[in-house]
Amino acid sequence: MKTKPYKQDNSALGYAVGVTLDRFIKSHQSHFPFATGELSQLLRDIALAAKIVSREISRAGLGQVTGAFGATNVQGEEQQKLDVVADIRFTRALTKGGEVCAVVSEEEDEVIDLQNSKGKYVVAIDPLDGSSNIDVNVSIGTIFSIYRRKTPIGSPIQAEDVLQKGSEQVAAGYVLYGSSTMLVYTTGMGVNGFTYEWSLGEFFLSHPLMKTPSVGNIYTINEGLFREMGETIKSYIQQCKEMGYTARYIGSLVADFHRNLLKGGIYLYPSTKKNPNGKIRLLYEANALAFIAEQSGGMATDGKARILDITPKELHQRTPLFIGSESMVKDLGSFYLNL
Ligand code: AHG
Ligand code: MN
Ligand code: MN
Repeated sequence: MKTKPYKQDNSALGYAVGVTLDRFIKSHQSHFPFATGELSQLLRDIALAAKIVSREISRAGLGQVTGAFGATNVQGEEQQKLDVVADIRFTRALTKGGEVCAVVSEEEDEVIDLQNSKGKYVVAIDPLDGSSNIDVNVSIGTIFSIYRRKTPIGSPIQAEDVLQKGSEQVAAGYVLYGSSTMLVYTTGMGVNGFTYEWSLGEFFLSHPLMKTPSVGNIYTINEGLFREMGETIKSYIQQCKEMGYTARYIGSLVADFHRNLLKGGIYLYPSTKKNPNGKIRLLYEANALAFIAEQSGGMATDGKARILDITPKELHQRTPLFIGSESMVKDLGSFYLNL
């Protein structure tokens, strides 16, 4: 019989559909050191919870999921209903999967022991980042870090399992619920971004091997806190203006970080009078984004040290955060060094 070889032709589709997240994870599994498939399954669990949360968020104006939950979290911040919903969805997905033994969440004061006797991973998570933007239909996100536990599998969870340096992360990522939903993650071999196609219920690779520009012209900071800031950061902001940089601030770290990752820029959350250690949490906000920043060619510091080198002392520890394009973060660092 006469045959012809298959040649992919996307011209009639108008767009090319990439490889699915599932297939991508499977095909890269062998690259992980000591790969046994659990980390792959864990990433798939996170993706599943992200789809569910994405669905809840897209209905936010309709259902009963907007507004305050009526409680405060351990940091004294008012919890929104979606903070709590997202926390439940992610924790449940991680529990069912069985690969994770413990979860550190922004919404839980203590470490959650998932009672998975075989779980060899620890997850730190900000289930819903940018809570103040939920009710006003502005982009929000989820941030996660994955660590291998230090103590033997099956033994009680210890502080050393959860208080690991960012440099010990085996994977990290974020989900951005924006004009589309995206999952961006790294396992230490580059950063890949996947866009959710809701009608097919799949994430597709849309941003392979993301690289951030080494310099950009965006600075991202809550300038409303200017009076609360130290002289160093004030003079850096002044320089940004003199350089003609553009100011962009969404107030959702994930969204602000993602824009700067693609376009080039610097995100700054310095220490302030009210928050001497800044506002961003080391374990479930700064570390994951610092890992992604570095893997995409960028940098992340607290003004003095590399974020990934900080040894955490507390679960909900805060840190000043300066993150983004390499030359901009270096330039910011020179302000601090010249003190
Ligand atoms: P969360 O909603 O998880 O508590 O995080 C909010 C964080 C971060 O997303 C954002 O960049 C920052 O808080 C905004 O803080 P300000 O309102 O002080 O600018
Ligand atoms: Mn957050
Ligand atoms: Mn949050």
